[in-house]
Amino acid sequence: MADGMNEGGGAPQVLLVGAGPGDPELLTMKAVKALAQAEVVVHDRLVSDAVLKVAPDSAMRISVGKEAGRHSYRQEDINALLVHLAGQGKRIVRLKGGDPFIFGRACEEIEALEAAGIAWAAIPGITAAQGCAATAGVPLTHRGLARSLRFVTGHCRSDQPLELDWKGLADPQTTLVFYMGHTTAPQLSAKLIENGLPAETPALCISQGTTPRERRLSTRLDRLPSDLDRAHLPSPILIIVGSAVGWRSVANDVGDEAGTVLDEPFRRVGGGGSAVG
Ligand SMILES: C[S@@+](CC[C@H](N)C(=O)[O-])C[C@H]1O[C@@H](n2cnc3c(N)ncnc32)[C@H](O)[C@@H]1O
Repeated sequence: MADGMNEGGGAPQVLLVGAGPGDPELLTMKAVKALAQAEVVVHDRLVSDAVLKVAPDSAMRISVGKEAGRHSYRQEDINALLVHLAGQGKRIVRLKGGDPFIFGRACEEIEALEAAGIAWAAIPGITAAQGCAATAGVPLTHRGLARSLRFVTGHCRSDQPLELDWKGLADPQTTLVFYMGHTTAPQLSAKLIENGLPAETPALCISQGTTPRERRLSTRLDRLPSDLDRAHLPSPILIIVGSAVGWRSVANDVGDEAGTVLDEPFRRVGGGGSAVG
């Protein structure tokens, strides 16, 4: 987007905006500007209150969060709502956690908007992987430890096995970031080990990353399911697996202090043992 114009040349009625992982200071300047001008903010459940506060009080806020076991909007309802609101001529911000195009179902909304002849534009956001890892001082790539990075969905339909390219994923030189992997952690741990990833590969779980409630669990691949189960971390949770997670002196602590829940910045574990159980 070039200052409010999309490729079609018209002023967009709907802005798909990335809200980042939670900390409002991680919003882009474009996102802040869009929010400041919004008349309606249609937002996901994961968008933090601190981010929503950036919109003016006068803006109508509509939560369309999808939450397991609770009444929630279906994707088709969200699409229809956006088309309906745009038809009223309002300036709409469709605010999505992280980046709208990373596990964000932005394309379905765009298709619905285009089918209705509604102009849209997108503003990127910091995705959870980047925001959570960098804030924790954890590299996602590392010369010598991780030459590639993969964002992987841990979500599968209830009672269905998680069908992924396990062989391709089980590369010791790749950092794996699992989104929505909380409930499927036992599957992903077992499958990666079965396909050759060492059981002692470092794993880090970050709960409510970049918010004041952030908590981190340091463990290793084989102990990931049991440690995660014991830790009772609130969602959202991101799971990062790979040697780069064990960068620096933290490397041994990740293995030796498996299951430690860290409330302090991760990097201090190696420096002074500030981990708390
Ligand atoms: C439906 S995906 C949406 C991802 C989003 N579009 C993004 O780019 O970050 C939701 C998943 O993102 C991860 N996630 C999002 N925000 C997070 C945060 N603040 N801390 C930890 N994980 C987060 C969790 O794995 C959660 O289950």
